[in-house]
Amino acid sequence: MSADPGFAVRGGVLHAEGVSLATIAQVVGTPTYVYSAAALRAAARRFRDALAPVPRKALAFAVKANPSLAVLNLLREEGYGADIVSGGEMTAVLNAGMAARDIAFSGVGKTPEELAQALRVGVGHINLESEREGEVLAAIAVRMGRAAPALLRVNPDVDAGTHAKITTGTSDTKFGVAIGDAPAIYDWLAARPGLSLQGVAVHIGSQIMAPDPLEAAYRRIGELVAALRARGQGISHVDLGGGLGVDYRGGADADVAAYGAMVARVTRDWDVTLLFEPGRYIAAHAGVLLTRVLWVKPGEECSFVVIDAGMNDLARPALYDAWHDFAAVAPNGATMRAHVVGPVCESSDGFARARMIDRVGEGDLAVIRDVGAYGASMASCYNSRALAAEVMVEGGRFALITPRIAAADIRPQTLPEWWQGAALGRAA
Ligand code: LLP
Repeated sequence: MSADPGFAVRGGVLHAEGVSLATIAQVVGTPTYVYSAAALRAAARRFRDALAPVPRKALAFAVKANPSLAVLNLLREEGYGADIVSGGEMTAVLNAGMAARDIAFSGVGKTPEELAQALRVGVGHINLESEREGEVLAAIAVRMGRAAPALLRVNPDVDAGTHAKITTGTSDTKFGVAIGDAPAIYDWLAARPGLSLQGVAVHIGSQIMAPDPLEAAYRRIGELVAALRARGQGISHVDLGGGLGVDYRGGADADVAAYGAMVARVTRDWDVTLLFEPGRYIAAHAGVLLTRVLWVKPGEECSFVVIDAGMNDLARPALYDAWHDFAAVAPNGATMRAHVVGPVCESSDGFARARMIDRVGEGDLAVIRDVGAYGASMASCYNSRALAAEVMVEGGRFALITPRIAAADIRPQTLPEWWQGAALGRAA
């Protein structure tokens, strides 16, 4: 599957569907995240179609990958619910018109307030990360006169074979309860008034390209389901998490059809409703970060192309040494070897090291590709930089879906009131 089906060069200029990125830069400025509705829809349908062999299932987009209202709205139209990890994501999802029952609430550090909020709105499932969290949720539910629908997240101790910082299914990570402890914890939680424990959840990591670790984890979960049933527990739901990877260099993504076939095969006798929480697979290729070249400055080994997007806009390269293709919006066929760097005052603020890229010069527009997932959602205001704008393109139309927001408007600040007189005095 080639990257970015929504993006192609037409008449010498890179377009998002029918809209020139030069036009978007002119109207909205840079840096700006640009999403293709067609690319999002295509990936959402590919994933759903791949799971056709699974009879009873629900799809929940991992909101952390891209919480934009427009993205969530589109995925709701495509039949997706949401996997959330905070009260803020819950608000975003409900604002996008998704039904509360289509929400799975994951996350290793939910607060009692967030648990109560989840029960109030009536989320579909709360994925418990520990015995103690279940005990607290049960008490809240009893107080509210509810039964909290819950799954127990299990850590299967399987290495996903991905980057250490996005591995979640080995026993040394903070996620879930150890699979060996799961039966006893499950029995104890299932007996708590206030909890309606319906099954188990697993998620072993992200950017997983080979199906083997997923299959290994699911097989362990299958054994656990059988063991729990043998202990008299009724298991109706299993959440298989997300994690399918994409290729960031224009090659083949994780084979989603093979994944669907594997899931159908491994879970054939489980007799449960399966939940899926894809994030990256749905959104990564559907977005580019549109940026302008500020300076091209000579360097010892090769030039530095300084762009107006930084690690605060796109953290993945700095955090995980992630590769993202860099391309000129109006490529002229020539290339150059360069370091592509941002304006932030950190050596880790770089997007490419000594890489052959399209030749660009001062003032030219360029894109960083495949940033529809974990791009804007991980942005910060470091260096008091604005948060980048976001634009949705569909066919020949585009719309600003998130305005550029100055750092001062995101974090309104004040002096301690006892300093204010002095400060005003100084200013006068
Ligand atoms: N479900 C749970 C419980 C998760 O923790 C995650 C991701 C997902 C689903 C979605 O996984 P996906 O299908 O997107 O792989 N910021 C990192 C990725 C962190 C993923 C965290 N959990 C990155 O930019 O690579």
